[in-house]
Amino acid sequence: MVNPNQQANSVILTPTYAHVVGWGMAVPENVMTNNDLAAFIDTSDEWIVARTGIKERRIANEKESTATLAYKAAQRALEVADILPIDLDMIIVATSTPENIFPSTASLVQDWLNASQAGAFDLSAACSGFVYALNMAADSIRAGSIQHALVIGSETMSRVMDWQDRNTCILFGDGAGAVVLEASKIPGGVLSSVLKSDGAGCDLLAIPSIGSVDADESRAGANGHKLYKMYMAGSEVFKFATRVVNDSIEQAAKLAGIAVSDIDLVIPHQANYRIIQSAARKLNIDINKFMSNVDRYGNTSAASIPIALCEAIEQKRIHDKDLIALVGFGGGLTWASMIIQWGIPKPDEQHGSLLNRQRRNILYYTARWRSRTKRWRRNLSRTIQYLRPKHGRVDRLIRKADEDNRL
Ligand code: ACO
Repeated sequence: MVNPNQQANSVILTPTYAHVVGWGMAVPENVMTNNDLAAFIDTSDEWIVARTGIKERRIANEKESTATLAYKAAQRALEVADILPIDLDMIIVATSTPENIFPSTASLVQDWLNASQAGAFDLSAACSGFVYALNMAADSIRAGSIQHALVIGSETMSRVMDWQDRNTCILFGDGAGAVVLEASKIPGGVLSSVLKSDGAGCDLLAIPSIGSVDADESRAGANGHKLYKMYMAGSEVFKFATRVVNDSIEQAAKLAGIAVSDIDLVIPHQANYRIIQSAARKLNIDINKFMSNVDRYGNTSAASIPIALCEAIEQKRIHDKDLIALVGFGGGLTWASMIIQWGIPKPDEQHGSLLNRQRRNILYYTARWRSRTKRWRRNLSRTIQYLRPKHGRVDRLIRKADEDNRL
């Protein structure tokens, strides 16, 4: 594929940029406070607030899942972007708590949205996942392969918590955030990203799954790591996070050709308010330039950055031409930073036009019936297959053998 950012056939093409043109979030209604936790584990509101800054988190009910939260956030992002699901070329869901090992959560969202032209896949990079996914989508747009991408971070961390482990279960919550990226010739959007991993730290933070050595129930018991339950060496992860956050932002700023002091707002992964304070100190950036909502949602892993981005926009903390730094860190170990120059290459009044809203609603409604009809047709054809008289080659041979035996 020809890269439009390069010279092709002696014609210099204008570079393509990847802009954020839509955003949306969805969190469960169910609130769990620190006092709720203290009712069943040995902890207290004072300890949790002092060590983490967290006051409450949202917990999914039995009807909510990673996919349903992702779907809601995605619908809101499409609404703001005012594009149709059929305009989407790519859907990525960054998650550590996928609906299934496969099919991907992204494929479910693609089906529910009726995004019939989009490829879909999940991305696993723990709490750094959203920045990783945004980078993948932005690169595809800048390379000219796609026009629109939907990038979602969605988690139901409550489903992988060991609710007896006070070191971890106090930290996490559920939620989803999504953005729509769009190709544009207007300079700006995603300017740079830095993705890193250190797999030597794989033992510090993990959720053992079916393919791991921990999947053997007896060994899982022996090393204390339960299948599908999260474990974390909290203070080690804390040290790692405070070590990498500032380096990573500095590298992304350098790649974008800006100084760290030019950054207008940092949207860090919401793990612990003390990590955010440490980053602000080390980068010599005013703490007021850091977005934080960890007090209300706790750590929602891959969803925390897009949720914080949505709330920063809602609180009018982001303006046209602002330079925004995103930084994620977590299991892998992984970490990632990105610099975005804000600016929507569309007039605001275009957002949420009535006609497009109705077209989107028709697509969501027909998506349900289209999938159901497909499944009915498949089941019907299986039943017909089963009931049909056997005239295949094997049946003919068996019938012939029976006749031969009778002779
Ligand atoms: N309530 C009361 N006491 C507690 C609790 C609790 N919930 N949890 C631990 N303690 C106790 C410990 O047992 C320990 O007691 P001891 O000294 O008698 O042994 C004491 O408090 C101090 O424990 P530390 O682990 O040293 O506490 P620390 O100040 O490091 O805070 C915390 C722990 C909050 C987990 C912190 O280490 C942290 O935030 N780590 C980073 C987590 C993170 O950023 N994860 C991000 C990635 S997540 C992802 O990728 C999915």
